[in-house]
Order: sequence, then structure tokens, then C-alpha cells
Amino acid sequence: MTDTLPSAGDAPELLFNPFDPAFRANPYPFYDVLREKAPVWMSPLQTIVLSRYEDVAVTLRSNDFSRDVEKNSNAAASPIQARKREKRAEESTKSILSLDPPDHTRLRRLVSLAFTPSAIERLRPRVQQLVDDALDNAAERGSMELIDELAFPVPFQVISDLLAMPTERSVELRQWSQHLTASLEPTADDHDIDLAGQAIDHFVPYLVEIIDDRRKHLGDDLLSALIQVEESGDRMSNQELIAFVLLLYVAGHETTVNLIGNGMLALLRNPDQLRMWRDDPALDATAVDELLRYDGPVQLTVRVPLVPVHYREVTVEPGTVVMTLLGAANHDPAMFDDPHSLRFDRPNSNRHLALAGGIHYCLGASLAKLEAQVAISSVIRRFPEVQLAGEPGWRDRLTIRGVDHLPLSWP
Ligand code: HEM
Repeated sequence: MTDTLPSAGDAPELLFNPFDPAFRANPYPFYDVLREKAPVWMSPLQTIVLSRYEDVAVTLRSNDFSRDVEKNSNAAASPIQARKREKRAEESTKSILSLDPPDHTRLRRLVSLAFTPSAIERLRPRVQQLVDDALDNAAERGSMELIDELAFPVPFQVISDLLAMPTERSVELRQWSQHLTASLEPTADDHDIDLAGQAIDHFVPYLVEIIDDRRKHLGDDLLSALIQVEESGDRMSNQELIAFVLLLYVAGHETTVNLIGNGMLALLRNPDQLRMWRDDPALDATAVDELLRYDGPVQLTVRVPLVPVHYREVTVEPGTVVMTLLGAANHDPAMFDDPHSLRFDRPNSNRHLALAGGIHYCLGASLAKLEAQVAISSVIRRFPEVQLAGEPGWRDRLTIRGVDHLPLSWP
């Protein structure tokens, strides 16, 4: 792979090619050159690409930007963007993720209570039980495929438990979620948009049916709580509820699975750090932050400036899509010493931007960290000699970074 890595002399156009397999396997050397040579770069996708920690952090936290790209970007020229807009208009509902204040503020307040760190901590025994069951099944075999046997089913079951959702259609649900996230990729084509449309056509009626039934049989689950939620006269509309549950499913399927997968791979490639965490339970609380920094599942997000904004000598006009490279920011040597090394003794791992920042900071952060901590620490303590049993394959995505299979074995 080394001969395909970029050098400081490369032109920026070569550096952010999502279709390049070398980029897929390891984007960080590409980010390095971009950060150094073109930190505020107008890419061929007609988006401004930011790769420095400071620029990314300021952008995520600034009120001068909108998260509602469909509404505020002037990138209407692309037919794919236009179709995406149509599709979103048909869906008629936006999730909290793409809303700006004041709607975002209202919804975020309504849903936040269910996701406080203490509410999530109460889920720990259940998460541990699910992980232990998965490891029991694999123990005798001496091997497991981490993604299908642990990294996917555990977060899926936890989010299903939280919402008290049936799980018998998990295969379809997973596929619908994958089609939805694929359509959010900057590189999504007509086919991806069509598949996402079909997924919505199945997913929404499925959720409507469950929500209608739940209204009649309220329980002590998150969905019932959201149906009943009322604060300062606010309620979630039915559309908002559907969009939120949809987002939770997608978040539950497409992110934590990759944190567990990428994190486990990082440990296997850094056996000294694996041993360090395995032998020191004090690291349980902090190791996941370093894994998020080192190789996070969400590599980028987008914003649109509502007023002219300045990055040093460059001015970005309102309506231009600004892509913040979270993964590049997390490997910025100006913020993290020796950034390409996995180091559990790093003093500032928790300054990473893998869960974004500002008002859209990941609502599921505590849950994702809990699941990854329990899953990974259990694997390395129960199977201390765990090793890679084959080459991992990278998923064909730009925004979401993750391995699609990770075969493990132990003596
Ligand atoms: C390792 C796993 C996860 C990662 C890396 C991750 C990452 C992110 C990021 C980067 C954002 C902000 C995107 C932006 O600003 O444009 C976000 C928002 C969000 N995440 Fe997560 N996420 C993870 C897991 C979860 C889980 C498990 C849930 C819920 C069950 C969740 C629910 C949400 C929600 C609802 C938002 C929108 C918050 C808002 O707009 O106010 N996430 N996540």
C-alpha cells in the first residue's frame, strides 16, 4: 500500500478521491497532505473541505452555519442533489439531525432526557448480558466473525429494547437502514436514491403501525415516553416522532457497529495497547475516546454558512456546502501529539470530534461509548490471546468508515 500513499508534492485533486481503494483502506495520510497543503479546499464536488482541528471545531460550534443543507445550500446545480431534495420533500419530515434552531432546540430538549449519561448507565447490565451471550456462543468454537456475531446484534438489540420494538424483521431493518445511510453519502447516485426511497416506503408504514399500536398500549419504554412527552406545552408531532425513531435505528445500525469493529481492529494492530487496556480496568472509562479519535465511524459531516465566514485569508460565501473532516481533525498534530499512534495514555483523547460538537453533538454518545466499552473490553479479557483470523474488508463508504467483516480467533 505504501507506494500508493500521497506525498506532500501531490495536487489536492488527488487527495480526496473517495473511490481510491488506498483512501478507503487508510484515509489518514491523505488527510495529512490536505491539512498541510490545502486546509480550506474547494473540492471537485464543489464543496469546501476543512481538515484542520481548529477550523472543524469552530465550524461545528458556530451559530453562523445551518445543518439544513437541502434548504440552505446553493448546490442545486447537481441533478443528484435535486433528486435528493425531491425525495426529502416527499418524506416531508426531517430528523433532528438536519434541523436548525428553534425547531432543533425544541426537539432536542424533548428527547434529551432519555439519553442522559445516568439513564444510559442503567442499561449496562443488559449490554453486558447481550455481549456475554454472544461470547458464550463463540467460546467453544474458538473463533467468531465480530461484526455479524457481536458488533451488529448488540447495538441493534439495545435500541430495539429501548424502544420496545419487535426484532423479528431485523434483517430487513438492517437493509433499510443501510440503504438510507448510503443515500446520505456525498457520492450517492440515482440508484442509491431509489433504494433509499424504497426503504422509506417500507420503513415508514412499519413504524406507523407500531406507533399506532403503542399509543393504545403505552409501556415503560422510550417510544411510549416520546409519545407522551410534553414540556412547556410542546409535543412531538407524529411526523417528528417517525423521523426520530428512524434516525435512532440508523444511528444504532450504522455507527456503533463500526466503533466496535474499527476499535477491535485498532487493538489487534497495536498489541501493546491491547495488553495495556486488558490489564488495566481503570482504562475502561477512557479507552473508547482514544478509539473514537484514532479511527472514528463518522468521518465527515456538512454545514452551510448563512453569512460570509472567514478561515484565515479565505472567505466562504453563504450557501456553499462546507464539509468538515472529523477524521482529519482528530489526526491534526496541532491538537494531538503523534496523532497516528493509538495511545491510551494520551492526556487529551476526549477532545476528539468523532461525535461532532456544538448543538448537534451526538445524542447517543453515552450509549455508543457504553456499548463499545463493554463489547471490546469483554472480548479482550475473555479471550486474552485473540487475534485476526483473516483480512478485514472496508465498507464502500466515505462518510461512514467501518470494516464489514472482522474474523477473530483464539487458541
Ligand atoms: C460510535 C457511534 C456513534 C457515532 C460515531 C456518532 C456520531 C454522530 C455525529 C458525528 C453526529 C453529529 C452529526 C452532525 O453534526 O452533522 C451525531 C448526531 C446524532 N447521533 Fe450519533 N453517533 C453514534 C452513535 C449514536 C447512537 C447509538 C445514537 C442513538 C441511539 C445516536 C444518535 C444521534 C442523534 C439523535 C444525533 C442527532 C443529534 C442532533 O442533531 O441534535 N448516535 N452522531
